[in-house]
Amino acid sequence: MQIFIDSADIEEIRDAAAMGVIDGVTTNPSLVAKTGRPFKDVLVDICEVVDGPISAEVVSTDYDGILGEARELAKMHDNIVVKVPLIAEGLKAVRTLSGEGIRTNVTLCFSPTQGLLAAKAGATYVSPFIGRIDDISGNGMELVEQLVTIYRNYGLETRVLVASIRHPVHVVQASLIGADVATVPHKVIHQLARHPLTDIGLERFLADAKKIPPS
Ligand code: E4P
Repeated sequence: MQIFIDSADIEEIRDAAAMGVIDGVTTNPSLVAKTGRPFKDVLVDICEVVDGPISAEVVSTDYDGILGEARELAKMHDNIVVKVPLIAEGLKAVRTLSGEGIRTNVTLCFSPTQGLLAAKAGATYVSPFIGRIDDISGNGMELVEQLVTIYRNYGLETRVLVASIRHPVHVVQASLIGADVATVPHKVIHQLARHPLTDIGLERFLADAKKIPPS
């Protein structure tokens, strides 16, 4: 499973990229707003740090508006994947963009039927928002299972990009199901690396190392 970082914070992205575990980046307008910086400046910086798919989201909700924004974003860098909302106008735009060879990440997917339509429209990625489903007492991971099964049943090439991840168990479950990608917040990437037995073991080794006589 590929791991993307779900962040627009360039320091977080640099830190995770230095660990060698990042295959791509996803951003959204909320994450970009948190940086307090212009959208395109943020994208330029990210493209310099990560050589992999970088999702950049449109904010138009009509076909022409989505297409205009998407073409402009795609022109910025070969690694840009245009994030399009999973609405009827978005699907129309995805169909056109797919014909133009522009890669898309269809976002805000909350049902298997939405995911099926996104794939039929030619989406490169579909993003089920599992944490937001869990937040309202649903089962986000069930949606991931359904999408993986549907795409496999019909040989659909759209990749399942598990989004809205809240904790390490989401990453484990997504990889056991066979999702293509998990986009993971910076804090959770560090949680994935950490284990208390590693810390205890390391502490002991370092203490014992001090007892070794010098050569
Ligand atoms: C990723 O593409 C999404 O924008 C992101 O994972 C949403 O996460 P949230 O539900 O924590 O805002």
